[in-house]
Amino acid sequence: MIIGVPKEIKNNESRVGMTPAGVFELVKNDHTVYVQAGAGEGSGFFDQDYQQVGATILDSIKEVYALSDMIVKVKEPIAEEYGLVREGQIVFTYFHFASSEALTKAMIASKSTCIAYETVEDEEGTLPLLTPMSEVAGRMAIQQGAKYLEKPAKGRGVLLGGVPGVAPGKVLVLGAGTVGIQAAKMAAGLGAHVTIVDVNMKRLRYVNDVMPSHVVTEFSNEFNIRKLIKTHDLIIGGVLLKGAKAPNLITRDMLNEMRPGTVIVDVAVDQGGCVETTKATTHEDPIYIIDDVVHYCVANMPGAVPYTSTVALTNVTLPYVLKLANMGWRSACNLDKSLAKGLNIVDGEVVYHEITRAFDWEPVLA
Ligand SMILES: NC(=O)c1ccc[n+]([C@@H]2O[C@H](COP(=O)([O-])OP(=O)(O)OC[C@H]3O[C@@H](n4cnc5c(N)ncnc54)[C@H](O)[C@@H]3O)[C@@H](O)[C@H]2O)c1
Repeated sequence: MIIGVPKEIKNNESRVGMTPAGVFELVKNDHTVYVQAGAGEGSGFFDQDYQQVGATILDSIKEVYALSDMIVKVKEPIAEEYGLVREGQIVFTYFHFASSEALTKAMIASKSTCIAYETVEDEEGTLPLLTPMSEVAGRMAIQQGAKYLEKPAKGRGVLLGGVPGVAPGKVLVLGAGTVGIQAAKMAAGLGAHVTIVDVNMKRLRYVNDVMPSHVVTEFSNEFNIRKLIKTHDLIIGGVLLKGAKAPNLITRDMLNEMRPGTVIVDVAVDQGGCVETTKATTHEDPIYIIDDVVHYCVANMPGAVPYTSTVALTNVTLPYVLKLANMGWRSACNLDKSLAKGLNIVDGEVVYHEITRAFDWEPVLA
C-alpha cells in the first residue's frame, strides 16, 4: 500500500502522524511511504530522518494526497484539505465529526473511508488512541499549575513541594481517571499533598492501593468539594462523563470560597469543563482570572509538547496503521473489532450512529 503523511496545517499543530520508527516498520513490510517535506519538523523529526528509513519526501501536500492509498495524520482535515481527499482513500486521524457538520459533509462528498482515532474502542470500553493524550495532559496539568501558582504569574505564591519547615502545597484532583491519576502522580512526585475525588469507588480503591500516603481519596460530592476548595492551592479538573458535557463540580459562587491566587487547571475543558466559569483558552493566552482565581483552560494541552505527544500517539496508532496497510481496511476491520469501531464514514456513507444523531440526520442503516 502507499501511505502518505502530510504536514499538519491546522493552527498551532506541531505533531505529525508518523515518526521515522513507523516508516521503518511500514517499509519493512514492503509498503511505500510518502512524507511531506518538513512534516515532522515541529516534533523534532527531520526529512533526512525519514529518508534514512526508506520514506520518499514530497514537496507539496497535494502530491501526498494525490499519490497515497491511505493518509495518516493527527488532526481532522481542515477546509483547505477537503478537496484533496480522494474517492476510495483511507484517512486515519482524529476527526471528532460530531463537532463539525462542514467536515462531515466534505468527507461524505469525497467518498473516502474515514477511520477516527477517537472512536477506536477496546473490549473494556476504553479508547486506546485517546488515552496517551490524557496521560500527557494530566502530567502537564501539574507543570502548568505549579507555574501559575507563582506570584508573578498571579498565583498564591506557593511552592508545591514546600521546603523544610514549610508545608507543601495542596492539590485537589477532580476525577480519578487517566488525567486525574497522572496529575496526582506528578503532584505527589513533587512532594505536594494530594486529594483525589471520584464517584467511582473502584477508581478510588485503586488510587488508594497504588499511591503514596500523601495522596488521599475522598468521595466526590458537593459537600466534600465545597470543603476541599477552601484549603487547596491547585485544582485539576479531570472529570469525564462519556459522550456528555462534563458536570459543573465547581460553580461560580464557589470561587469566593477559594483563597485569592488559587489556580484551576480545567483539563476537561474540551468537554465543556467541570468548572462553571471555564472557557477555552489557547497556548498563546492560556489563563484568565475571575474573582482572584486563576483559570488555565487550554483545550489542546498536548500541542505544547509535540515531541512527547507525537511519540505517545504514534506508539498506539502504528499497530493499527500496519494492520490497515497489510490487510486493507475491510479485512483489518473484520478481524479487529476495536479498529472497526473507528469506522465513521465508508466510501462516503456515514456508518457511525453518533454522527447522524449529532446533526439530526436520518439514522444510519444497520
Ligand atoms: N485539555 C486537553 O488538552 C485534554 C487532553 C486530553 C484529555 N482531555 C479531557 O480530560 C477529560 C478527562 O479525560 P480522562 O481520559 O481522564 O477520562 P477518564 O474517563 O479516564 O476519567 C474520568 C473520570 O471522571 C470520573 N467522574 C465522573 N463523574 C464524576 C464526578 N461527578 N466527580 C468526580 N469524578 C467523576 C469518572 O469516574 C472517571 O474516573 C476528558 O474530558 C478529556 O477529553 C483534555
